[in-house]
Amino acid sequence: MHTEVKINNQHIPVLVDAALTYLAPKQGASYLDLTAGYGGHAAAVLGRTMSPERTVLVDRDQTAIETLKQKFKSQPVEILQEDFYAASQKLVQQKRHFDLILADLGISSPHIDTASRGFAFMQEGPLDMRMDQTQPLSAADIVNNYSQGDIAAILAEYGEEPRAKRIAGLIVANRPLHTTTDLATIVARAYPGHSRMHPATRTFQGLRIAVNDELGLLLKSLPLWFRLLAPGGRLGVISFHSLEDRIVKEAFNEAAGDRYDTDLRLLTKRPITAGHDELVFNPRSRSAKLRVVAKIKTKEREAHANSG
Ligand SMILES: C[S@@+](CC[C@H](N)C(=O)[O-])C[C@H]1O[C@@H](n2cnc3c(N)ncnc32)[C@H](O)[C@@H]1O
Repeated sequence: MHTEVKINNQHIPVLVDAALTYLAPKQGASYLDLTAGYGGHAAAVLGRTMSPERTVLVDRDQTAIETLKQKFKSQPVEILQEDFYAASQKLVQQKRHFDLILADLGISSPHIDTASRGFAFMQEGPLDMRMDQTQPLSAADIVNNYSQGDIAAILAEYGEEPRAKRIAGLIVANRPLHTTTDLATIVARAYPGHSRMHPATRTFQGLRIAVNDELGLLLKSLPLWFRLLAPGGRLGVISFHSLEDRIVKEAFNEAAGDRYDTDLRLLTKRPITAGHDELVFNPRSRSAKLRVVAKIKTKEREAHANSG
């Protein structure tokens, strides 16, 4: 069965049923959505908690924030336009705690579908790729100003691009590059003949991750998310590629591992992925992986310690 979720601004949220099953929202629970986007998960969770006054929605994209404000205008939710690391730091300083926390990482469908945002190599747009439209660094800065070695390192590390050095050489020899299609055309020269995926897929992923410091912010934020969990609370993270998933997996294993001194417990030994129906209905769910940890209540923790 697939929970009915209203599609807003063409973003279909992934793993909504799984997120509801594992977060298990109860009426009156507090909720922190760190990547609220177009509000699909938030609406589904709020439908269960019925407590908008205990709900905080975060996103760093202005378009997403405007949509969230419109979508939840009749409900007293708190909406923060910030990156989730900055927002999490503030919430920790304010000594806030949440029963449910969700981070559904990466970009949204409107990012890809809006050519002017510069995320898509199939449509002509500026070399932008910023999730936060006010941030100074864009993909054009990296492509046109970084050294060949630095570009190669970004493509190899964040794009997992085997021909990173060759592509970086082609970029440097042909700059300045102005548009997404200029870049895609240059990258394609490193792949004469056919390749299984579009030759620019990995280059665009690498640049996007670098522009938005996606892995750095995730790594720094996870320990704060553990602190923001209330006793009995649950944190779910949905990732979309192996680099992100590895960071989440290692942080969860480390924090909720088989130790006597932890108050975190892993609820997903293996990541939860989309079932057949969702894969057909929403192809973007293909690479989604959900991992969940819970914070043990004090009584449970004492019982656990005594049993050891
Ligand atoms: C996959 S979408 C989330 C969609 C959302 N769950 C929904 O149901 O509509 C990811 C969102 O997270 C935002 N985002 C990504 N990284 C972020 C970060 N470090 N801080 C704040 N927002 C971020 C993006 O702007 C995007 O809107």
